Amino acid sequence: MKKVGIIGAMELEVEVLKERMEIRNRLEKASMEFLEGTLSGTEVVVVRSGIGKVNAALCAQILCDCFEVTHIINTGVAGSLKNEINIGDIVVSTDALHHDMDVQVFGYPLGEVPQMGCLAFQADAKLAQLAVSCCKEVNPDIAVYQGRVVSGDQFISDKGIKGKLIQNFQGYCVEMEGAAIAHAAYLNHVPFVIIRAISDKADDSAQMAYPAFEKAAAARSEALVEYMLPKIL
Ligand code: ADE
Repeated sequence: MKKVGIIGAMELEVEVLKERMEIRNRLEKASMEFLEGTLSGTEVVVVRSGIGKVNAALCAQILCDCFEVTHIINTGVAGSLKNEINIGDIVVSTDALHHDMDVQVFGYPLGEVPQMGCLAFQADAKLAQLAVSCCKEVNPDIAVYQGRVVSGDQFISDKGIKGKLIQNFQGYCVEMEGAAIAHAAYLNHVPFVIIRAISDKADDSAQMAYPAFEKAAAARSEALVEYMLPKIL
C-alpha cells in the first residue's frame, strides 16, 4: 500500500498539511516530529525537517527506515533562477543536484558527488508529471514549470551568485534541501519529487521579497501536494 512521506523544511511549509490531516500517531526522532495519518484519504507521514541539507537527508532516511514510505514529496518555497519564473509560480523537479559540491580537482563535474555515478538525482517521472497536471487544475491562475532544482547550504540573495548557478547548472530554482532529499531517496530506491513555489528571485531583492511572499508561496505548494495525493498510484 502506498505511504507518502511529505517533508517541508520549515513549519510554514507543512502547517496547512498538518492542520488538514487526520493524525493517528506522533513520533519524535532526531528532534523531528513525524506525524502519521491520512490526508485526502492517503496514508502519509508529514514532517518538518529543519533547514539545510543535513537536516533534510536525516529526515528522508528516517522516513525510509522507520516508516517505510513508498514515495517522498518535498514541498516548500524556492528562489527563481529564470526571468520568466515569477514569485508565486511553481517549479516541479526533473532532477536535483548539490550546487555547493565541488570535487573538480579530481575530475568530477561541479555539483557531482564523487562515486555516485550521476551529476543530478532524477525525480520520478510519473510523480513529476502528476504534479504538473494537478497544478494546472488546482492553481489554474499560476504558471508551473518542470526543471532542475539546485540546492546548497546558502540562502541566495546576490545577482552574481545567481548568475553562476544558472551558468553552471541550468537550474530553474534554488533552495536548501531538495537535493539532499533526492540523494537519500536515490540511495534508498524510493521515488521522489520536489515541489517548490517561488518566494523570491534569488537576487538582491530576495532579502526583502522572501519574508513578504514565503507564506502564500508555501501554501500554494501545500495545496498542490494535498490535491495530488489520492492520484498517486
Ligand atoms: N528558499 C527560498 N528562497 C531561497 C533562496 N533565494 N536561496 C536559497 N533557498 C531559498
